[in-house]
Amino acid sequence: MMNNSYTEPHKATSQVSKKLAVCCRGVTKTFGQGNSAVKALRGADLDVRSGELLMLVGPSGCGKTTLISVIAGVLQRDAGQCTVLRQDYDNMSENETTAFRGKNIGFVFQAFNLIPSLTTAENVATPLIINGMKPKSAIAKGREMLAQVGFDERMMRSLPTDLSGGQQQRVAIARALVHEPHLIVCDEPTSALDSETGHKVMELLSRLGRAENRALVVVTHDSRIYKFADRMAEMEDGAISRVVNSPLDLKTASEETF
Ligand SMILES: Nc1ncnc2c1ncn2[C@@H]1O[C@H](COP(=O)(O)OP(=O)(O)OP(=O)(O)O)[C@@H](O)[C@H]1O
Ligand SMILES: [Mg+2]
Repeated sequence: MMNNSYTEPHKATSQVSKKLAVCCRGVTKTFGQGNSAVKALRGADLDVRSGELLMLVGPSGCGKTTLISVIAGVLQRDAGQCTVLRQDYDNMSENETTAFRGKNIGFVFQAFNLIPSLTTAENVATPLIINGMKPKSAIAKGREMLAQVGFDERMMRSLPTDLSGGQQQRVAIARALVHEPHLIVCDEPTSALDSETGHKVMELLSRLGRAENRALVVVTHDSRIYKFADRMAEMEDGAISRVVNSPLDLKTASEETF
């Protein structure tokens, strides 16, 4: 029987505890077969501590989206271990995985993945409705969340296609936060945002995502937001090559990324 409560007493004195929200060991994933096979993950090891914002960086194609998709339970690994909020998707049925994800995980997709036929407020309300909240209350909560990312009345009633890329990205972020998930996974959350909006969105993500018993993984190429990281993990060729405490520590071996 799956136990997806995540309420163990928090013993650490600092906000970032040693307790792990995510623990991946030797995770592999290959897309396709034969000559066209792509080894996207080749033994990725990653810990995400409860209470921290971990940034995942690395060149295009190194496997960042694949790794966070495995962590979020939207993609199945081929081999290796992956414990997320002390659960393993391998021990869950499809329905249990869907329920676990719906309750515990917020995902900001690289391509936003908004539902085109729903207004922005309805899009943001979706995770709450899936978790059983009445639509009227869910939409009201969705609107509150959208206000936090700077949306006005008109934008809340708009369809995603009527919004700019940056506005769609903010809807995707509001949708990932609205159900107060224990793990928030963001794929390039500031890629379509100007510097000031990106800063505000990161402040919101840090404020809502870094509380006790919560954690955030943020994939990014955007060095302007590195300062929000508690730790940074660098990825190369489908594996984590190192984890450092400060973006300055990355500089020595990869000047070209700055
Ligand atoms: N659904 C898929 N089918 C086939 N190959 C895939 C699929 N998804 C990813 N890949 C391949 O797996 C490798 C890792 O892709 P991934 O999207 O994880 O990289 P990434 O680090 O997120 O890159 P980017 O920074 O460009 O987003 C790439 O070679 C990519 O082409
Ligand atoms: Mg990617």
